Amino acid sequence: MEHFAEPYRIKVVEPINLISREEREQRIREAHFNIFNVKSRHVFIDLLTDSGTGAMSDNQWAGMMLGDEAYAQCANYEHFESTLRDVFGFKYFIPVHQGRVAENLLFSNIVKPGDYIPNNTHFDTTRANTLHKGGYPVDLICSEARDPHSQYPFKGNMDVARLEEFIREKGAAKIPACFLTVTNNSTGGQPVSMANIRATKEVLDKFGIPLYFDAARFAENAYFIQQREAGYKDRTIIDIVREMFSYGDGVLMSAKKDGLVNMGGFIGINDAELEEKITNLMILIEGFRTYGGLAGRDLEAIARGIYEALDPRYLEFRTKQVKLLGEELMKRGVPIIEPTGGHAVFINAGEFLPNIPPSEFPGQSVVIALYREGGIRSCEIGSIMFESKDPTTGKSEYAPYELVRLAVPRRVYTNAHLMHVALCMEKIRDYKDKLVGFDIVHQSKYLRHFTLKLEEKKSVRTSV
Ligand code: F0G
Repeated sequence: MEHFAEPYRIKVVEPINLISREEREQRIREAHFNIFNVKSRHVFIDLLTDSGTGAMSDNQWAGMMLGDEAYAQCANYEHFESTLRDVFGFKYFIPVHQGRVAENLLFSNIVKPGDYIPNNTHFDTTRANTLHKGGYPVDLICSEARDPHSQYPFKGNMDVARLEEFIREKGAAKIPACFLTVTNNSTGGQPVSMANIRATKEVLDKFGIPLYFDAARFAENAYFIQQREAGYKDRTIIDIVREMFSYGDGVLMSAKKDGLVNMGGFIGINDAELEEKITNLMILIEGFRTYGGLAGRDLEAIARGIYEALDPRYLEFRTKQVKLLGEELMKRGVPIIEPTGGHAVFINAGEFLPNIPPSEFPGQSVVIALYREGGIRSCEIGSIMFESKDPTTGKSEYAPYELVRLAVPRRVYTNAHLMHVALCMEKIRDYKDKLVGFDIVHQSKYLRHFTLKLEEKKSVRTSV
């Protein structure tokens, strides 16, 4: 195993506790087998998300003390805006309290019922916000992403040929925007190459369709371009980031990931008319234009965090740590989406538990087993999250993969914590044929995974 050390030392610690196996059993039952209902203090290693769960630096905490909490035109907004302009290059930057509000504000202004929004792969909130406005989210991921074992270096790419076909089929008038999600969270945190960004933009230009980035993990994407794409190894991360966004007409970002903050986000655009419309709606639902639902100190933390996320030593450690977890799982016979992506390891639960069909949610069986075995919280990214019903036949369409995401918070856990996870999965592997599926007993219309209740099947399936 390659040895590599954190490029920081620990200044503040937060105790965590592994409660007893009996208590874990009680807690998961009380939670109706929905991991979102388990209290944080009953979790030992929390890999539910890398969103808003990172550790801020001493530099960011120092900046928090410089919060200017004026309602209008606070000094931190100036710093926030100049930083974002320097890094992303757009004309207007509108702060919001988190990414999904950016989606809501933009889609409320550009999506009409019956419109289509293509994306390499929508994250669940972009999908839900598109549907909420009467639009159809369309995923046009490249074919390489369909093979979980393919080592293709840019499995987050858009299928550009399919995109062009799709636009010709539906007509550009029905497509108010196209998105690239960097990195592509829902297909394994896989990066998008610069060549693919360029090619996507070229197709969209033919039809006058704007390109937006969903940039939650933009720095990790830029790092992969530097490491994996010909012609970029001698370019700096910030330079790569600037090139990426130079092809865009706008950006939506949840700063809770590569902004290295616990709360925040923004919209970046060039279109003055759209900026005014978004601002008007934003004042209604988020706050004044220069704070957008955040405190002045939060804007300061984002301005500082964005630059820290571009530090190559930080990015090298981070991607190596995620890779380490992936390798330790594979060594133990646990199938994952290969190669490991930027922010998480995705266990291929469909492959791991072939005896549990998508209708019984094999990903959830792994999620619950990890909690029972080691107090680990993970997240199902499979048919619980993405099952859809055909509007005419009512037939279920299941997710293409039944995955479990082990998202690694930034600058929070050591490699020893991640070894605990790998060792728990090794134990689970030895009794995996005894795991059972689940039935949904309660669910909501949108984003059901957050609130649903489940019941565990009584017995092990003998055939699928
Ligand atoms: N876009 C992407 C690619 C995301 O991963 C997320 C959030 C959002 C948008 C929405 O941002 O949470 O600030 O409102 N992803 C989190 C996750 C929740 O766990 O992957 P938000």
